[in-house]
Amino acid sequence: MSDQVYTLRIQRNTRRDDGTMDTKWDEFQVKATPLTPVLNLLEDVKGNQDGSLTFRQSCRSAICGSCAMRIGGKTRLACKTQIGEVVDENNTVQITAQQNSPVIKDLAVDITKFFSKVHQIKPFLQEGSESAEEVDDTAFDQVNHVTQCIMCACCYSDCTMAEVSDEFVGPAALAKAFRFISDPREGKKSDRLKVLSNDHGIWSCARCTMCVAVCPKDVKPMEAIVKLRTRAMDAGNMDNYGAKHAQAFHGDITSSGSLNEALILNRTLGVVGALGEMGAALHLAKKGKIPSPFPHKIENLDEVQAIYNELEKNPLDVETKAENAVPE
Ligand code: SF4
Ligand code: SF4
Ligand code: FES
Repeated sequence: MSDQVYTLRIQRNTRRDDGTMDTKWDEFQVKATPLTPVLNLLEDVKGNQDGSLTFRQSCRSAICGSCAMRIGGKTRLACKTQIGEVVDENNTVQITAQQNSPVIKDLAVDITKFFSKVHQIKPFLQEGSESAEEVDDTAFDQVNHVTQCIMCACCYSDCTMAEVSDEFVGPAALAKAFRFISDPREGKKSDRLKVLSNDHGIWSCARCTMCVAVCPKDVKPMEAIVKLRTRAMDAGNMDNYGAKHAQAFHGDITSSGSLNEALILNRTLGVVGALGEMGAALHLAKKGKIPSPFPHKIENLDEVQAIYNELEKNPLDVETKAENAVPE
């Protein structure tokens, strides 16, 4: 395969003495085949054009997670991403630092916050009364894909909830929590589920699927979160907005086949909480967007109920197809 000229448009960041960030864009031309990893090209630039370009790398083999950065609008591992996959029609690609973590310089970010989330969920087995004596292969199958996580933070960088909430535990840490809750040797599963049901845990995920789409190891964090929600509710953790909303949603669909949007807020937040949303409701009312509070029964409701009955007998093992999760 012959060499072509590619343009790397790289965001350069330098922190000023007063703590603010000086940001500019630099463009570098490099020659490579379409199969060349972006990391090689960054090394080429650093070695031959601008030695001050700053980025992280270590294993060069998609193992250590160090080289995660935003390449062509998604967070990816630079060592695993071939330049031909990500350039536009002008053979140009834009490269910036990860999101949701403070930038130190150029493409290197401070990953302290990301790892503090992982520490928060206690990433180790705990002794306790719920620990099983024996472990079989089935238990390992449950956690196998989650243990492939390399802590690269690609998911955290592109997580839409992490973008708006510093407190959200985040996809990688929640996937890690699933790994321990699913391990028969874990002695404090109930305690874990209770903590994760609180604010900023499993119910804060917006199910945007970005973490599934960008994970380079196919960990599918959102699926772990969905399974944690089911386990948390099965364990009786119902006194939170997320579980109440899920219960109200389930009630509406099984009884009428459609959501009663006028009343679901009340059933999720309670009367007092719903009153707190009156401002937004009045705004919607002015625009003629308040739905009817009377339930609307769909035709063929029996078919919806038959689906629910079947799901209750044979629950789905949730599976999201990463490649179809979001448009490129
Ligand atoms: S699905 Fe949830 S955890 Fe994953 S990126 Fe979206 S909001 Fe974040
Ligand atoms: S879940 Fe995937 S994207 Fe997130 S840290 Fe682990 S390997 Fe990286
Ligand atoms: S350098 Fe280790 S994952 Fe890319």
